[in-house]
Amino acid sequence: MSFEKEIQKRRTFGIISHPDAGKTTLTEKLLLFGGAIQEAGAVKNNKIKKSATSDFMEIERQRGISVATSVLAFIYKDKKINILDTPGHKDFAEDTFRTLTAVDSVIVVIDVAKGVEEQTEKLVEVCRMRKIPIIVFINKLDREGKDAFDLLDEVEQKLGLSVTPLSFPIGMGYDFKGIYNIYEKNINLFSGDSKKNIEETIAFDDVQNSELENVIGEKAAQTLRDDLELVNGVYPEFSKEKYLSSEQQPVFFGSALNNFGVRELLDCFIEIAPSPRPKKAEEREVIANEKQFSGFVFKIHANMDPKHRDRLAFIKIVSGTFERNKPYLHVRNKKKLKFSSPNAFFAEKKEIVDISYPGDIVGLHDTGHFKIGDTLTEGEELHYKGIPSFSPEHFRYINNADPMKSKPLHKGIDQLMDEGVAQLFTLEMNGRKIIGTVGALQFEVIQYRLEHEYGAKCTYENFPVFKACWVDPSDKNNDEFKEFKRVKQKFLAKDKSGKLVFLADSQFSLQMTQQKYPSVKLHFTSEFE
Ligand code: G4P
Repeated sequence: MSFEKEIQKRRTFGIISHPDAGKTTLTEKLLLFGGAIQEAGAVKNNKIKKSATSDFMEIERQRGISVATSVLAFIYKDKKINILDTPGHKDFAEDTFRTLTAVDSVIVVIDVAKGVEEQTEKLVEVCRMRKIPIIVFINKLDREGKDAFDLLDEVEQKLGLSVTPLSFPIGMGYDFKGIYNIYEKNINLFSGDSKKNIEETIAFDDVQNSELENVIGEKAAQTLRDDLELVNGVYPEFSKEKYLSSEQQPVFFGSALNNFGVRELLDCFIEIAPSPRPKKAEEREVIANEKQFSGFVFKIHANMDPKHRDRLAFIKIVSGTFERNKPYLHVRNKKKLKFSSPNAFFAEKKEIVDISYPGDIVGLHDTGHFKIGDTLTEGEELHYKGIPSFSPEHFRYINNADPMKSKPLHKGIDQLMDEGVAQLFTLEMNGRKIIGTVGALQFEVIQYRLEHEYGAKCTYENFPVFKACWVDPSDKNNDEFKEFKRVKQKFLAKDKSGKLVFLADSQFSLQMTQQKYPSVKLHFTSEFE
């Protein structure tokens, strides 16, 4: 198959949702369609039920055994589909943000009863900022939930989207009769049986046809006609171009658990979702069908087995082909590296591949060369953008609890930071180290991993910081910046890549600082224009 065709075949996306909306269930049903798994229950639920370290460790241990769950690939109707796992738990939001740099589109799952939830808002905001095409799937229609129109309003308002429904529910909960597929113009009747024949749809070009009464009953027929009239009147017609440019978001309704409305979603998805999109590097924009290979690391997965300290770096291929045993330039290290066993991922396994294409994810064994955000090329100096660090929410001093183990401690901290478990800041004034995390859980995780993987012990000490702000002076030599540095010395630190960070101890002090030094811009992310 030609290189162009291979690119056109690929759909690399992520499913995002608030925990419990049905992401795992939907993923599993999608895999069933692809024939990638044979039975329900095969996809491990990575969700953390309790906010406990033991829970996290168990998940990591299982993941370590089957890292394939980070990327689930399957073929459906001749399309190669790569689903990238995005943890829903808020303590791992940073991991999800990074994964979103490697997807070409997303599906957002929303619980019909709960509507738009907090985590969904945050994740969709990131997608909107990056203009990632979004399809919305409203799930659990077999349960009583919010009115469909109210929900569509809520999605528009809370998520800042411009939706247009491509399917519409006929009833809900106890009265759920099925779904009218606006995109395909047919009706799918709900039987509440998950093993139901998925092809059983009834074509219905014209809902005015009196046959409709016979199929769903008089009352439901009238309601559906009224609903569709309202849909026509209120929502714009679906436009693939607008969806691709992130100006419009199609919405599907269904019940993942009952495998209902999922085929419709998938069929539409493979038709409209983008194949690998161009990606901006600091130097230029790179498009998928360039012949020269380039890609970037968006995730590093550590081996949790202390006897094997190797890690797996996940690379998203942006352009060209990635070939086994061919030397590639590690741009940051300025070194050529060859990989004898690059892994490709399938639903439940990984295997060594000779060649991978744009949109694909390859896993490379790493003994400490890679950091998140690193770029690999055939020689060109490219630095991919869009993997910023966000300000952590929790900050603590990290201290060495065993003076004999200072070296392993530092090595461990370094490697865990490369993996993106947390962020390290070094105070300008005295060189003390501060760990910043998104959730409190990570502190325990770091402590546990330092001890079990590196044989080092650490303790923490509170450090009251509200936000870390990356400092962006308009002019490094002006007096205002010099004064800022002098007065705020106690609150200044360097991040892992040496960028200057201001650690604000409260919202108030942040505002005052910004007012006092207007030419010194303070950003909540490390990447700014
Ligand atoms: P997540 O990955 O987004 O966190 O959600 P997950 O798929 O694990 O689903 C959360 C719960 O919602 C699960 O129930 C799942 O069975 C249920 N669910 C998913 N889709 C539907 C649906 O269409 N209808 C209904 N009624 N329920 C649905 P659980 O009891 O938490 O877990 P389990 O013990 O059933 O696995």
